Amino acid sequence: MKTVNTIDALRALVSQWLRQGERIAFVPTMGNLHAGHLQLVGVARQHGTRVLTSIFVNPLQFAPGTDFENYPRTLAQDSEQLQAVGVDAVFAPSVDEMYGQQRVQSATTVTVAGLSDILCGEFRPGHFAGVATVVAKLFILVQAQVAVFGEKDYQQLTIIRRMVQDLCFPIEIVGVPTVREPEGLALSSRNQYLTPEDRERAAVLYQTLQRVKQQVVDRRESFSMIEAQAMQVLQQAGFRPEYVSIRQSEDLQPGRTESTHLRVLAAAWLGQARLIDNLEIW
Ligand code: PAJ
Repeated sequence: MKTVNTIDALRALVSQWLRQGERIAFVPTMGNLHAGHLQLVGVARQHGTRVLTSIFVNPLQFAPGTDFENYPRTLAQDSEQLQAVGVDAVFAPSVDEMYGQQRVQSATTVTVAGLSDILCGEFRPGHFAGVATVVAKLFILVQAQVAVFGEKDYQQLTIIRRMVQDLCFPIEIVGVPTVREPEGLALSSRNQYLTPEDRERAAVLYQTLQRVKQQVVDRRESFSMIEAQAMQVLQQAGFRPEYVSIRQSEDLQPGRTESTHLRVLAAAWLGQARLIDNLEIW
């Protein structure tokens, strides 16, 4: 497995692969890899002849005073895991390499209007512009034919799909179902911010989403009533919920009973960890 840290070295590797007629499948990450990330790599291997993973903790998507500094950086272990699952190359640039002298004040940014400021975007202003900007930049550098993203970050996946469509990126986006702990908690690098006690309680988030799904399927109450009840259940279990929302899967607009594809999405704090999860309803 090759590791490249500079844009020049990445471009050289990519042009060599493309000259050889390889099909590049790309898995962008912020590192501190777990079985969810490795699942994406497995899917990427089915879609390309070369798999490239990026590891970059992107300052542009963290608000000041949040966990950018403390975000777990575990490059050595990550590289071992990626090698073991057959990744061909890792791109692990520094902040300087990605943003140069501008640092995090990238003058050019990508915003997906209407999708970036709802749900998580309402509570994390600027976050999705940071994500879309770094992903656009990585897509231009990596020139992959396919990129793989997790449904765990469903709003992010939706924003990337929309950006690719709007900006005509010649890339196919593949979504992968969320990988969970046996009791239902979605795997996340941020789960390590949970105390052992909160970790046990954390499965309530997924159980709550399953309950919402059942209630929607049973069609007994209004969506807003179901959402309000779910918020209450989370509060009673010790969470500080930001939202529980039933949305249309394709555009994340508020769900209507006649919508053909619905998903419930939620974000809630438990102790020091902000957890997000979502579940397809139909
Ligand atoms: P990160 O949180 O490291 O996640 C990288 C990819 O792994 C994302 O596509 C995410 O949805 C997926 N993923 C995380 N946990 C998962 C799980 N339990 N099951 C399935 N997939 C999972 O998301 C980011 O990094 C960044 O925002 C990034 C896209 C790299 C841009 O900086």
